[in-house]
Parts: sequence; C-alpha cells; structure tokens
Amino acid sequence: MCVLQLACGGKSDSSARTSPELTSTHIALASSLSPFNLIPYPQELTVIEGQLALSETVKLVLADNTPASTQAITKLLNHLQLSVSDESTLTIRFNLDPSLSLTEEGYQLRIDEGIEISAVSDVGLFYGVQTLRQLLPAQASANYVLPKVDITDQPRYAWRGSMIDVARHFISIDYLKRHVERMALFKLNKLHLHLTDDQGWRIEIKAYPKLTSIGAKTQVNGGGGGFYSQEQMRDLVAFAQLHGVEIIPEIDMPGHIQAAIASYNELACEDAKSFELYEGMQVGWSSLCLDKPEIIYPFVTSVLSELVDIFPTQYIHIGGDEIEHVRYAEFIERTDNILQNLGRKTIAWEEASKGELHSDSLLQLWNDEYDIQSAIDRNIHLVLSRCSYTYFDHGNVAGQENTFDWCTKDGVSLARVYSFKPENYPLVVGIEAPLWTEMVVDEAGADNRLWPRLSAIAEVAWSAEKHRDFAQFKQRLSVIKTHLDALQINYYGK
Ligand code: ACM
Repeated sequence: MCVLQLACGGKSDSSARTSPELTSTHIALASSLSPFNLIPYPQELTVIEGQLALSETVKLVLADNTPASTQAITKLLNHLQLSVSDESTLTIRFNLDPSLSLTEEGYQLRIDEGIEISAVSDVGLFYGVQTLRQLLPAQASANYVLPKVDITDQPRYAWRGSMIDVARHFISIDYLKRHVERMALFKLNKLHLHLTDDQGWRIEIKAYPKLTSIGAKTQVNGGGGGFYSQEQMRDLVAFAQLHGVEIIPEIDMPGHIQAAIASYNELACEDAKSFELYEGMQVGWSSLCLDKPEIIYPFVTSVLSELVDIFPTQYIHIGGDEIEHVRYAEFIERTDNILQNLGRKTIAWEEASKGELHSDSLLQLWNDEYDIQSAIDRNIHLVLSRCSYTYFDHGNVAGQENTFDWCTKDGVSLARVYSFKPENYPLVVGIEAPLWTEMVVDEAGADNRLWPRLSAIAEVAWSAEKHRDFAQFKQRLSVIKTHLDALQINYYGK
C-alpha cells in the first residue's frame, strides 16, 4: 500500500521535508534530496512545512467553463476512489484569474490546508491537475498524504510535440486517443499526424474520394491499410482539446505522394516512375507534377480547404521534404499562399526554406546539419526535430531490432534525447519527436519507441535549462514509471 510517500516506491527522503534548511526554501533540482518526482520539473517549487492527508472525500470548487480541468480532476478523483462531498473539510479549489502573471499554459499549485490550483486558462488548470496527479500514487490506495508545497510553473517552449507517421503503418484512432492521454500527463501539447505518404493516404477528402477508396488500401509490406473519416478526426480533435493537445495534420507534398498518384494518375507527370500503389520503403522518388499547375493546385486547394474545416489549429503541415525540382520553391510559395488565404499558417520540413514562406510560418528542422540561415534571416521560427536526438524510429540503443540507423549508428538513447539543448538555436518555438513507422508494425512497437523517450522530450521542452540534470531525471522517472504502468504503456526497459 502506498501511504505517505508521494514518491511511492521511489527514493524518498522524508527528512528532507523536515530539515530546517529545506523547509520554505526553493529546492534546486540539483539537490539530490528533492522528493518531488515530477516530469517535467516545474520552474519554481517552494516546500511548505508539513503534509496534507487525503482520505475518502474532498470538496471540489471548480471554475466556470473549464471543461478540460473539470474532466481531469473528476477522472483523477474517480481513479483514486476519492468521492466528492460538500461536507468534506478538505477542499480542492480552482481559480481562473486572468490577472495572474502566468502564460496561457502556466499554473500555480498550492498544497497547504487544502489544494488550490490557479491559472489564467482552462489548460493551465489542467496542467495543475497533471502535476497533482504525479504527486499522488498511480493506483488507488486507502489514504494519501501529500507534501505541502507551493509550485509556480509554466513552459519554456510553446511547442512540445510528438509526431506519429500513420501512413507507413496505419495506427488506430483508439491508440491515438490513448497517446493523447499519455502525452497530457507530461504536458506535451502538439500531436502531429503524418497523414499521407507513398504507402498510404489516411484522411477522407470528400472532393477526392479515391484518395481513400484506393490510396488507403496499402501500407509498408502489405497487410492492408486504413484511413480516418472526417468525423473520426473531428472526434479526435475534440478529445485532444480536452487534454490540452492540438492535432497538427500533415499532407506531405509535393513528394512522398504515390498513394495520391495511384488514386488520381493525372496528378503525376506522364513520365512518372510509377502509377501504382506502393508498399516498399524507398523514399524520395514520387512527385506531384509541378509542370501541371492547372491540375495540382486545385487538388492542393481542395485538400487543404477540407483540412482547415476539420482541424482548428493555426498551423497546417505541408511536408516539403526530400524532393528536388526547379519548380519546388514555387510550389512551396503557392501552397503557403493557399493556406494564408484559408486563414491558416504553414509549417513544413526544413527544405521548404528554399521558398519565400510568409514570416509567420514555421520550419521543422530534421537533419542534424542543415543550413537554415536564409529562413532565420527572414525571422521564421523553428520546431526542432534534429534526427540524432529526436528520431524515435532509431533504436533506444544501438542495433535495436527493427530500427533505423541512417542518422546515427549509436541509437537515440534516453540520455541522448535528454542532452538536447534547444537553447543553442535561435528563434525556437519548441521541440518535436517524430516516430516514422516503416518498422513499427503494432502498438507494442509504438509504445517501445515512444516511451520513456517522450518524457525526456517533455522535460527538455518545458523545464528551464538550470533544472535539467539527467541523473535526477532518471531517479524521478523510476517513480513516474508507476504512472506509465497504470497507463499500460509497453515502454522500452519495462
Ligand atoms: C523526414 O525525415 N523526411 C522529414
């Protein structure tokens, strides 16, 4: 049974809470005494002397119009078998206060005579609940004791992302929903879906029905494919919103497009390499016919128009990787203009820096070495996905079965992910870890590649550099793994 230790099962030094020099003091993460097994580690944490016991009932005082945090606290209390009663002497209170000096996702969590979470938005309150959740055991217990503490926290970076390639292998909506729930525990907030590639087109487009009736039938090495209806995607978007997660859809263009060409042959030039569906793994050979603007731009406009109708995100990803053509820059610029006319902004892979994107676009860096200076000169901001730190199709260790090693032969270890320093780059909005799925054939495989490495991404993207220490992180993770177990994640090293 887990009584008292917020760090149930973990290395908790209760003397740290009572020693005079540590009470009411900011705990620096560098201190090996910190009993606060939180990932990502908060910006400011002040210990208050004493502990708060929770048993059986709590009084809940919610804020109006806060569906995400209301759902999160209700779920947490249910999970821990704590019931709500207005007669209870212990209150959990939410304050929504726009005058607080916190960013949109920031929050204050004070555990003292009661529990109080304050924020300027619902998502801030939601993140306060996630911190409370990590301070409590992952499984229900007879009673709970929390350390008294005052936490003021907000993210270092606004973009804290996970990308899943659902094209090379189709991934079920059910898994994506579970992934959203798992991301939320670590305050990750962007789920980028790589919805199309040579091996499959995964999103229903009503103006071009063959994209799914033909183009969704395949995946790498056969075995069928699949796609999401627009209704399913709207449902996922709403579900994600309730978890502080925004879905970023990607249509990869003008290359990586064979599934669309097999569905509508006229999208390709007459001398295209193939007009057939494709189940191999080679990349960089298919293309929309950039010399047929009268065919391809109506297609791009229709697809993006339907996308903006489904996905409320400001940013739509247009791909742009791994293709060379004299009219490539023109394609990027025209597609960027189409999105601007639809009231949205472009995000694209780094190669799109060859086009004159609007300055409010984002570029996603993926090769370890890529000269992005021209984009920086135009003040274009960056999402960092440097392959040797964030490509989770690479092994958790060197030589792991069914993983790639083209970017680094050493694997992308947890330590390597954690060592990434976004602070070394200019104009950074955040970090994202892509999971390419050529060799990820099932959900257990996806879990193994994603976790626990995504928890390191979460901390690198959220926490201040001065609070990042790998030995400390691993110690905290050993406790947080009880939460990964409760979420039934088949993480690497389980
Ligand atoms: C990429 O890995 N081709 C973005």
